[in-house]
Amino acid sequence: MIKVAIFASNNGSNFEAIVKYFKYSRNKKIKKYNLQFVLITNNKRAYVILRAKKLNIKYYIIENDKLDEFLLLNKFDLCVLAGYMKIINEKTLKHCVFINIHPSLLPHYKGIDAIKRIYKDNATNASGVSIHYVNKYIDGGEVIIQKQVKLDKNISYACYKRKVHLVEHKIYPKVIEKFLMSLC
Ligand code: GRF
Repeated sequence: MIKVAIFASNNGSNFEAIVKYFKYSRNKKIKKYNLQFVLITNNKRAYVILRAKKLNIKYYIIENDKLDEFLLLNKFDLCVLAGYMKIINEKTLKHCVFINIHPSLLPHYKGIDAIKRIYKDNATNASGVSIHYVNKYIDGGEVIIQKQVKLDKNISYACYKRKVHLVEHKIYPKVIEKFLMSLC
């Protein structure tokens, strides 16, 4: 069995895209290994919990100070951060490989509200999505893949945001799949 924990604190559109991608995947190699997802959230009111219920995915609401204990008792092959609003400290990073998705071309626009800040600044050089390994620095680990998102001059903020998310939903499952294939 391959066990993957997805960490999300709010909306969870990436969580849903990842789970659905593998649900409908025809990748026989991974299917053979019985891939299991769980959701970890630190927000008991998060919308992502409803998504998990609908998708029949087991979820855990874990207080930030209980995460280490939880990961000691529950082993995962990969920990996927997808809108998880908590910095993962060095001690926690020792439990598993962590990857994260960030809506900018790193190292530009690290930190929260990157989409909004990029749009406001019309920062065309930073507009895109990065998936990276997690280290102790915020959005600072080694980049795995980056994809540019065109920031057109007259695009509305809502439209730009949707474009960024669509790219996220497309590339995150594929990066996860590649990683899992390397375990099989
Ligand atoms: C995404 O934009 C992701 O890049 C960032 O947090 C957002 C999460 O969105 N880290 P959602 O909860 O998956 O809809």
